[in-house]
Amino acid sequence: MEVKDSILALKEGVLKKIEDVKTLDELNSLRVEILGKKGKLKEILKSLGKLPPEERKEIGKLANEIKEIVEKRLKEKEEAIKRSLLEKKLQGEKIDITLPPSWIDVGASHPVISTLVEISEIFIAMGFAVEEGPEVEYEEYNFDMLNIPKDHPARDMQDTFFLNNGMLLRTHTSPVQIRAMLKRKPPIAIIAPGRVYRKDADPTHSPMFHQIEGLLVDTDVTFRDLKGILKLFIEHVFGKDIPIRFRPSYFPFTEPSAEVDIGCTVCGGTGCRVCKGTGWLEILGCGMVDPNVFRAVNIDHEKYTGFAFGLGVERIAMLRYRISDIRILFENNMNFNLQFKGIR
Ligand code: DAH
Repeated sequence: MEVKDSILALKEGVLKKIEDVKTLDELNSLRVEILGKKGKLKEILKSLGKLPPEERKEIGKLANEIKEIVEKRLKEKEEAIKRSLLEKKLQGEKIDITLPPSWIDVGASHPVISTLVEISEIFIAMGFAVEEGPEVEYEEYNFDMLNIPKDHPARDMQDTFFLNNGMLLRTHTSPVQIRAMLKRKPPIAIIAPGRVYRKDADPTHSPMFHQIEGLLVDTDVTFRDLKGILKLFIEHVFGKDIPIRFRPSYFPFTEPSAEVDIGCTVCGGTGCRVCKGTGWLEILGCGMVDPNVFRAVNIDHEKYTGFAFGLGVERIAMLRYRISDIRILFENNMNFNLQFKGIR
């Protein structure tokens, strides 16, 4: 029973070796060494032929049993090694959830921008499209085509930033009316929010500020439509109970023209420093598009009528948040800015 002894000895030796294996590589070479084509078990089985039939049968069976046991142990060991590798990896990646978080400063919308966005959204909801124009503008679009003659005081070097290439920084968003009418055919319903520039600086004027322009052109547009839309917008921003009045005024690009006042948000109409004792605050200019403007853009003023309006965003933000000096809006003072976080 020489073969039987050696096969049993092989089994013991192999099982011990499997126990001691530390890595997957070692385990694989051990597998080849025992079970491979030229492995030890094969070698023993080869010598079976020389044995008498009785013994051959017994040894053959034994060899198969050993093969199964060895395979099973190899598999178990492989799983154990893999498990401990995974555990080690997870240990290395452990997250300590008791650590205090690092502080994340979340930004917020500037009060001027949130006012601009909110006003825009009201008009977008009514069906107006947003139109943009450049801040560096042709003098023609900013003045001439808006029926502002060459000798008009608004063109004065005192007010307008002229550039040395014959262009200027737009003094209002009204040139976007011209651009929209050159680009589109009626019906036209647009708003144009954006930055404008004037040589002006005091507690209520900043050299750069924001306006929102509105323009609606179609057949049969009346002043009543203008009033209705502006009333809707003002009540949305200042509340349903806000007093509103339309006051006759003059703008070169509209006829008739009006300015719109609301009841003073500071004193409630009794008269104070902010409303200069009048109880009213002016918030926008508006009117029916002047036929001369339609002529400049080749729109038939017999067939179409339109209304336009323009409002100052800073002014509305100041009235809304009761800010008395426009300059604080542009100082980037975080103590001021952070008061508006979360407000809209
Ligand atoms: N562009 C004018 C300004 O800056 C505001 C304005 C008034 C715009 C009447 C209009 C309008 O469209 O109809 O003072």
